[in-house]
Amino acid sequence: MFNAKITGTGSYLPKKIVTNKDFESILDTSDEWIYARTGIKQRHVIADHESTSSMAEIAANNALQAAGVDASEIDLIIVGTSSPDRVFPSTACILQHKLGAKGGAAFDVQAACSGFIYALGIANQFIKAGGAKKALVIGAEANSRILDYSDRNTCVIFGDGAGAVVLEASEELGVLSTHMHSDGQYQDLLYVNNPIKDQKQEGDQAFMTMHGNDVYKVAVKTLSRIVDETLEANNMLKSDVDWLIPHQANIRIISSVAKKLSMPMEKVVLTIENQGNTSAASVPLALDQAVRDGRVKKGEIVLMEAFGGGFVWGSALVKM
Ligand code: COA
Repeated sequence: MFNAKITGTGSYLPKKIVTNKDFESILDTSDEWIYARTGIKQRHVIADHESTSSMAEIAANNALQAAGVDASEIDLIIVGTSSPDRVFPSTACILQHKLGAKGGAAFDVQAACSGFIYALGIANQFIKAGGAKKALVIGAEANSRILDYSDRNTCVIFGDGAGAVVLEASEELGVLSTHMHSDGQYQDLLYVNNPIKDQKQEGDQAFMTMHGNDVYKVAVKTLSRIVDETLEANNMLKSDVDWLIPHQANIRIISSVAKKLSMPMEKVVLTIENQGNTSAASVPLALDQAVRDGRVKKGEIVLMEAFGGGFVWGSALVKM
């Protein structure tokens, strides 16, 4: 049986930046409020000509280049996204065509902000079972397309971007374990309505609704539990983890998970200040940043975790 090893990472952020100050002129909010409550200063927003698949394409090509793998060798593409180009075909299918890859399996995973962790967990199982040899695992989101820019509860939190990894069958240790959970009883706390089913009048759009305070409370409790579960599954101690790469939802949620791990914040990869919450893209974006700036090195143990609408939550423990 093979292990699944991350052999390359890549990411993409759109050029346009929207700062907290920019919101002050259109909303009853302030830079001080947003930064103090979330840790966010700015976020990237895609241009009209861009899409979830176009961001994923750049991130994927960067990851392929880092891995030294050609797109034609890829036999599995999984995209974690809740803001796909189309309802169908999947963004993964559209991406496969853009990359010039053909014939392998390609599908999306809809697990909100946990989309990348779920995609990684699924790709890991595929590779271990011999169903794929070289996979692209991606988190990509055009959140700005599903935000109501008159709703200060949601629009200041989220940003756009994409992150990717190449996952290859290997004899070396790679993904050590992944853990995925969900609890649909919370579906009304964080959701995007379905404009197909919910359409009341022509022109209705899909928008995100979030009851942030309730989400916050469950997220803190749940993520703390999954840290224990992940370490126990691998017979590891907190001190065995070199890096925490969390979903970037709120600096206060991230700090509480770091505290649970007794991990100093220097060992936590943070992108939230400059990127906001990019949902499924946030973990692979942070991973790529830390790999490229030399913080995360080969052989180190990385704990990734995420939590999102559903609720769905998950973690992955990876030897780089
Ligand atoms: N600017 C100014 N005031 C705002 C605001 C904004 N952008 N957004 C909300 N407020 C107001 C609210 O209307 C409320 O006003 P009221 O007391 O007059 O009703 C007040 O601030 C407090 O709102 P509350 O929601 O209790 O604030 P909070 O401390 O919980 O912070 C979040 C809000 C969203 C930052 C925080 O709850 C959070 O980060 N939750 C987790 C979200 C998350 O992780 N989501 C993604 C999961 S993937």
